[in-house]
This record gives sequence, structure tokens and C-alpha cells, in this order.
Amino acid sequence: MKRPEIKEVLVFQKREKLYGFLIKKWKEISGKAIKEKGFFTVALSGGETPVEFYQRLADSKNFFSWDGTHFFLADERFVSFEHPDSNYGMIRKDLLARILLPPQNVHPIQIYQTPEISTEKYEEDLRMFFNLGKGEFPEFDLILLGIGAEGHTASLFPGDSALSETHRLTAAVHLNEERHDRVTLTLPVINRARQVIFLVSGEEKSEIMKEVLEKPESNLPASMVKPVKGKLFFLLDKEAGSLLLQDKTALKK
Ligand code: 6PG
Repeated sequence: MKRPEIKEVLVFQKREKLYGFLIKKWKEISGKAIKEKGFFTVALSGGETPVEFYQRLADSKNFFSWDGTHFFLADERFVSFEHPDSNYGMIRKDLLARILLPPQNVHPIQIYQTPEISTEKYEEDLRMFFNLGKGEFPEFDLILLGIGAEGHTASLFPGDSALSETHRLTAAVHLNEERHDRVTLTLPVINRARQVIFLVSGEEKSEIMKEVLEKPESNLPASMVKPVKGKLFFLLDKEAGSLLLQDKTALKK
């Protein structure tokens, strides 16, 4: 029997509240994971949207220790860490460099000669860290995702072959020079996470959010995120949520 989907959509009137909610959720999820197994694993996305959240998380006084937290990436652009478009570069600057963290808790997608080599190595890093046997997948405690205006998430783009990957943990994605080639976690990994949270902001995301939330059968990459056991949250600011049917959302002040 198919399990009922555990999905929650929250539209926040004020960004402050959205960040506050997400920091609280993070604390709750990480606290539970650390209590249960001694560590917490999170995969983060890049792009513009999460920058302020990362800064606030770093400055949050709620955390007394980051020792049990292991940071991974949901995807990476194939550029050096010093390049302004590097996801890890941004996450390092806005979050990791601002907190006290053992260096072995940071697991970036390394940039080697080709996206394929980086993809292969990241898969090996994940297999090693999660101690995976053949055919096994990791179970992240939390994956934080964004969404592109055309429905991509992590670096899974509409129509790309990476979307149909069923065995591998990571995939290489080839885009144009401006958008950069990418390395991404695959859907089987994303959908095995215990919690997946989409953070979406801005009016330019309102159309796609309407489509993703009101036409769940669409085959957009973001619509294919359906955690098999975990919980799915969509946290939207009021601009991104402006076209949603009121009764489908829980409006927060
Ligand atoms: C990336 C991301 C990507 C991002 C969306 C939204 O590397 O681009 O990880 O999936 O979440 O593109 O990006 P914005 O927040 O910049 O709109």
C-alpha cells in the first residue's frame, strides 16, 4: 500500500519568521539525529535563496556545539571554490567559516579534471562516510533544496538524463558555459532523506511553485522529490506563495 505523502506547505508573510522556523526545525532535526546515532548529516544547496539563512544559522545563539554535524552538498557547479558561482565557496563563506567546526565534518564536492571524475569521487566519499555496501543508499537526516524558475532542483534539470538515474548516488550534468557543468545528488538519494526542505523565495518563483504544488503529477524535477519515508516541507515567502490557492497553504504571520 502506498503511504500517504507527508508534506507540509508553509507560506510566511515575513522572512524573519521563515528563517526563525527553519532554524528551529534544523535544531529539532539535528538534536534528534545526534541523540539517536551520535551525528547529524545535512546536504545543502547553493544559489541565492539560502544565503541569508546560512548567515543567520551561523549567528544563531541556539547552537552550543557543531561537533556532531556533518555538512555535505546537494550539488555543485563545476568551478573552483574561489569562483563567485561556487556553491561550496558561498556555503564556506556564509556559514562554515563562521562557526566552530572540526574540518573532518565538511564534505564538499571536490573539483577534479572533469565533472565525471568529481562525480565519481563524491560518490566514493559518500559510500565511505555512510559505510554503504553495494546497492545501498545513504539516508541523510536533512536535505535542503531550492528550486529554479523552470523547476530544477539540486542540479536535476528538466529533461536531463540525470533525472532517470536509479542506481548511482551522484550524477554529472552538462549545461552551458554560463550555468556551468554540475555534479548533483540523484533522486534516489534525495528521496531517501529523513527530511527534505525546500526553501523558496521571490515572485519569480510563484508560477513554478503553483505548478509543483497544485499539479504534483507533473514530471518537473522538483515534483519528483517525494521522500519514501521522510517528510517534505515547502517553506515559501509570501512572494513565492502568492499564486497558491489559499486553502492549500497554511499561512503564517
Ligand atoms: C544551484 C542550486 C540550485 C538552486 C536553485 C535556486 O547550484 O544552483 O543548488 O538547485 O537551489 O537554482 O537558486 P536560487 O536560489 O539562486 O534561485
